[in-house]
Amino acid sequence: MNISVLGTGDDRIKSAYHASKNIYDNVLTQGSFLSKLYINFFWSGTDDIEVANKILSYIPEDFDGTILDVPVGTAVFTEKKWKNLTKANIICLDYSEDMLDQAKGRLSDCSHISFVQGDVGKLPFENGKCDVVLSMNGFHAFPDKKKAFRETYRVLKKGGSFIGCFYIKGKSGRTDWLVKNILTKKGWFTPPFLTEENLLKVLHKLYSKVECHTDGSIAYFKCRK
Ligand SMILES: C[S@@+](CC[C@H](N)C(=O)[O-])C[C@H]1O[C@@H](n2cnc3c(N)ncnc32)[C@H](O)[C@@H]1O
Repeated sequence: MNISVLGTGDDRIKSAYHASKNIYDNVLTQGSFLSKLYINFFWSGTDDIEVANKILSYIPEDFDGTILDVPVGTAVFTEKKWKNLTKANIICLDYSEDMLDQAKGRLSDCSHISFVQGDVGKLPFENGKCDVVLSMNGFHAFPDKKKAFRETYRVLKKGGSFIGCFYIKGKSGRTDWLVKNILTKKGWFTPPFLTEENLLKVLHKLYSKVECHTDGSIAYFKCRK
């Protein structure tokens, strides 16, 4: 896999997500006619809320362990679930202060939730700290995917669950065109992108009990360390 380093792309990511902070939730949740059109035309109608809810259903309602949500983004998909998991210790991490500020706005009144500005490639946590690592729509944005896989694995406890979803290439020419010509140029996505085969290979190498599904160009998965 050809890897770029965060040092060269970090400002690009911050400014890309600064620019999109006011439209991100609307687009991803299909909050307007144009967003619906965009998702239907470019993303084969994949409903991100539905995918997010499937992944979140992997975490029991009475869960009381430590969860790392990386990247939390604006917490648009996780807000309700995180608010209800009052027995858990939830750490929300993102590289962009703009995105993290919106997550804080949604979740700041919850004492079981904390916020960290940081890089997935250099997580400020000890080995085996987390019972669950959730990474929703992150890997297609992370500049150094090898480090991201390594670090999310390192901070997960043995027996813990790695769950998440992200864009995979090779499923739809239209989506791949959009990602290559628009989303990557804007800085919201960062190559190299994994195919379903690449993802399965990485997950099987690191984890057991791998379950992986696809919905259009989005792969979602759960697996055990
Ligand atoms: C598409 S958003 C996904 C956010 C959220 N999980 C969701 O599903 O709505 C991608 C996020 O990845 C964050 N990000 C990009 N590179 C990162 C890095 N190296 N470390 C942590 N977060 C990063 C961006 O700031 C952005 O908030």
